[in-house]
Amino acid sequence: MALVTGAGSGIGRAAALLFAREGARVAVVDIDEAAAKATAQQIEQGGGEAIPLRCDVSKAADNQAAVERTLARWGRLDVFYANAGVPQWPTQVENVEEATFDRILAVNVKGVFLGAKYALGVMKRQKRGVFLVTASTAAIRPRPGGQCYAASKGAVVSMTKSLAIECAPFGVRVVSIAPVATETPMLPTFMGKTAVDDEGRARYIATVPLGRLNTPEDIARAALFLASDDAAMVTGSCVEVDGGRCI
Ligand SMILES: NC(=O)c1ccc[n+]([C@@H]2O[C@H](COP(=O)([O-])OP(=O)(O)OC[C@H]3O[C@@H](n4cnc5c(N)ncnc54)[C@H](O)[C@@H]3O)[C@@H](O)[C@H]2O)c1
Repeated sequence: MALVTGAGSGIGRAAALLFAREGARVAVVDIDEAAAKATAQQIEQGGGEAIPLRCDVSKAADNQAAVERTLARWGRLDVFYANAGVPQWPTQVENVEEATFDRILAVNVKGVFLGAKYALGVMKRQKRGVFLVTASTAAIRPRPGGQCYAASKGAVVSMTKSLAIECAPFGVRVVSIAPVATETPMLPTFMGKTAVDDEGRARYIATVPLGRLNTPEDIARAALFLASDDAAMVTGSCVEVDGGRCI
C-alpha cells in the first residue's frame, strides 16, 4: 500500500491514480481536504481502495496521524511518496520576504523530514519499503529568482542520499525525482504568471531539449517504476525526468 502527499492535485494526484490502477491501496494525503477526497473518490470509482487524509506536511502531529491512520487501516506501509510542495514566485533576492523563505523550507524540506521521521521507522521494522521524494531540476539547474525553492529542493536531494545510506541495511530504498516544468496548477507561479500563456510555455519549452514540458503522468510513471521491485538496485539517486534540461 502507498501513501502519497500532495495527492489532491498535479503530480501527486497522477501518482495516486496510477498506483491505484496498478493495484495499490492508497492513502491520499493533502492539506486541501476536499481535493484529497476528490482523488480518493476517483480511485474508488475506478474500483480501487483509498482513504483521504487531511494533513499539513509541515506539522509533525499531522504526519504522525497520517501514518498511524494508514497503518490502522491496512497494517503496513510499502511506499511513502513525499511529494507535497509549494513554489516560489520569481523574485530578486533583495525583495524576498523572510516569511517566504520560512514557508517554502517548512513545506518542501521540513515536510519531507517529518514524513521520513514517521514513515521510515515503520519501513525499517518491516525490512521493506520505498520512500520517494519529489525534488526538482531547480536543485540541479535553477532558474533566476527562485533561490528559496532551489535551496529547498537541493536540501531534499541531499537528505535523500543520507536517508538512503541509513536505510540500506534494512532493505529500504530512498529516491528523489527531479521533474522539469510540469503541467500542473503550480506551473504559472514558476513563470511569474497567474496563468500559463504562450510566451511562458514557449520560454520554458526552449530550455527542454526534448521540446515539451512534463505531464503529471510522466512523473507518475517514473515514481511507479522507482517504487517497484524493477528498481530494486536504485537508492540514493536523484532521477531527472526533464527531457534533457539538466544536461
Ligand atoms: N509543476 C512543476 O513544474 C514542478 C516541477 C518540479 C517539481 N515540482 C514539485 O512537484 C511537487 C508537486 O507539485 P505539483 O506540480 O503537482 O503542484 P500542485 O500545486 O498541482 O500540487 C501540490 C499539492 O500539494 C498540496 N500541498 C501544498 N502544501 C501542502 C502542505 N503543507 N501539506 C500537504 N499538502 C500540501 C496542495 O494542496 C496541492 O494539492 C511539488 O513538490 C513541487 O515542488 C513541480
